[in-house]
Amino acid sequence: MDFMNTLIPGDCEDIIKQFPDNSIDLIFTSPPYADQRQKTYGGISPDKYSEWFLPKAEQFLRVLKPTGTFVLNIKERVVNGERHTYVLELILKMREQGWLWTEEFIWHKKNSYPGKWPNRFRDNWERLIQFNKEKRFKMNQEAVMVPIGEWAKERLANLSDTDKIRDESKAGSGFGKNVSHWLGRDLVYPTNVLHMATECFNRQHSATFPVALPMWFIKLFTDRGDSVLDPFAGSGTTALATIQAGRNYVGIDISEEYIEVARRRIAQTQISLLDGFDSETTYVNSNQQAPVNEKAAL
Ligand SMILES: C[S@@+](CC[C@H](N)C(=O)[O-])C[C@H]1O[C@@H](n2cnc3c(N)ncnc32)[C@H](O)[C@@H]1O
Repeated sequence: MDFMNTLIPGDCEDIIKQFPDNSIDLIFTSPPYADQRQKTYGGISPDKYSEWFLPKAEQFLRVLKPTGTFVLNIKERVVNGERHTYVLELILKMREQGWLWTEEFIWHKKNSYPGKWPNRFRDNWERLIQFNKEKRFKMNQEAVMVPIGEWAKERLANLSDTDKIRDESKAGSGFGKNVSHWLGRDLVYPTNVLHMATECFNRQHSATFPVALPMWFIKLFTDRGDSVLDPFAGSGTTALATIQAGRNYVGIDISEEYIEVARRRIAQTQISLLDGFDSETTYVNSNQQAPVNEKAAL
């Protein structure tokens, strides 16, 4: 496909209309947040957010493969002293549009600086909402395993009788665990909370996320050679992670200026990869948890 491995300036809704059905393996993006950053690239009224987003989501749904995943990085802002409900409304409307709301991940921003507000604490996390077309989608869980950590030393040293059999959930949820299953293992599956530092500096864009964030989802939801689309590409962070992971990228941004920033970053990364090292952070995950052997919830 001739749009593959390109950065395209323009409105993603118009550009994506030219893409074939079922052609993308992963859509990973952080759209403009409601009413924020008006000075940089125009805000959308929180009350009109779904109306603005849904025609774009319809195109995302069309171009995503049935085995593909859409990860939406977003966080509702505070309006008149309350969290606005536009993200929740968007989730409900996207379900009506045909999406499955499979999961929600939390990005915990490890390096937030302190602050003081009269009625709340510092906002230190963002949502990564996972949507799918089908219940059975591509998921490489082994690709994001993490070291078992300190938990194992104490917990696995003193196993009770219950720990040695499958312990079904008392609440009847269908979830169960067999703790002894993890004996002798170095790696376990991560949680749905990702602890990663922000990288807001020196990027010529006011709203970048760290390369490690798209990288984690690219490894989880795609294979080498698959396609990754970021329809609100900004400074090209998703494209950068996609290249580093050996997948094919497509980035779209309405701002020619950001497309130029992204092109420069990609060129630098490609030169670094040819030289044998990555110029920017690759995947780091400090996620650790007490592991459980859960039944697939599909
Ligand atoms: C939150 S930023 C993305 C930042 C990006 N994740 C990064 O790491 O640099 C959202 C981007 O969406 C772009 N944008 C806004 N409306 C758009 C539209 N209709 N189509 C494509 N891009 C759009 C803005 O120019 C902005 O760069």
